[in-house]
Amino acid sequence: MEMKFKIFRFDPTTDKVPRYQEYIIGIKRTDRILDCLNRIKWEQDGTLGFRMSCGHGVCGSDAMKINGRCALACQKLVKEYEGKEVVIEPLPSFKVLKDLIVDLKPFFEKVKKIQPYFVSSTPLPEKERIQLPEDNKKIDIAIRCILCASCMGACPVENENDRFLGPAPLVWAFRYIFDSRDEQFTERLKALDYPDGVWACENHYECTRCCPKEIPVTKYINAIKRELQK
Ligand code: SF4
Ligand code: SF4
Ligand code: FES
Repeated sequence: MEMKFKIFRFDPTTDKVPRYQEYIIGIKRTDRILDCLNRIKWEQDGTLGFRMSCGHGVCGSDAMKINGRCALACQKLVKEYEGKEVVIEPLPSFKVLKDLIVDLKPFFEKVKKIQPYFVSSTPLPEKERIQLPEDNKKIDIAIRCILCASCMGACPVENENDRFLGPAPLVWAFRYIFDSRDEQFTERLKALDYPDGVWACENHYECTRCCPKEIPVTKYINAIKRELQK
């Protein structure tokens, strides 16, 4: 079976404007979109730029827009797009470095802002910091985040206002705010209490819909808002 791909191409060092390039390749229904991109690159056009690493939904490097939805190319099967042309574009709201490769530096700067590390004044225990199962349950889904930035690309607020902290940094904030072992509860909450912080979220749920790790992003953002309102 053959499938047509229409892929966003732009090299800011040589191109004035972006364009879309079409490729037709032979596919199996069980191929992943990432397999198709690799085949295009290896067999038809070595100049196509995209990121990938693990190939199994772990590293988060191949987030892109596939037929209008932000997703990981390694998690999307060709059969989901059967009978359609597949349009592949870079993650929205980021600067394109080449084709499907975007500049993620501003994203990681935002994540750094929320202090994505554990803070405790108690001495290091011999083995590990024990946490009760019921306390761990509060954060065990949030810790699945692989920082793929799909949610950032999907968020309509983020697309219009790059000062908005954004869904993924808020998931990481949630993960530490509600970690029973962390001692910065109040400070962490206060750090999100500004118009472009947690309050800029408008509950569009696009982040939740696209998260490849099925993290209820919007629910966590609202939990932070509720905690601040208390
Ligand atoms: S719920 Fe909030 S963070 Fe998620 S897409 Fe909507 S505005 Fe963006
Ligand atoms: S919350 Fe989900 S979509 Fe957002 S960066 Fe983490 S894994 Fe990716
Ligand atoms: S290649 Fe690592 S998540 Fe897709």
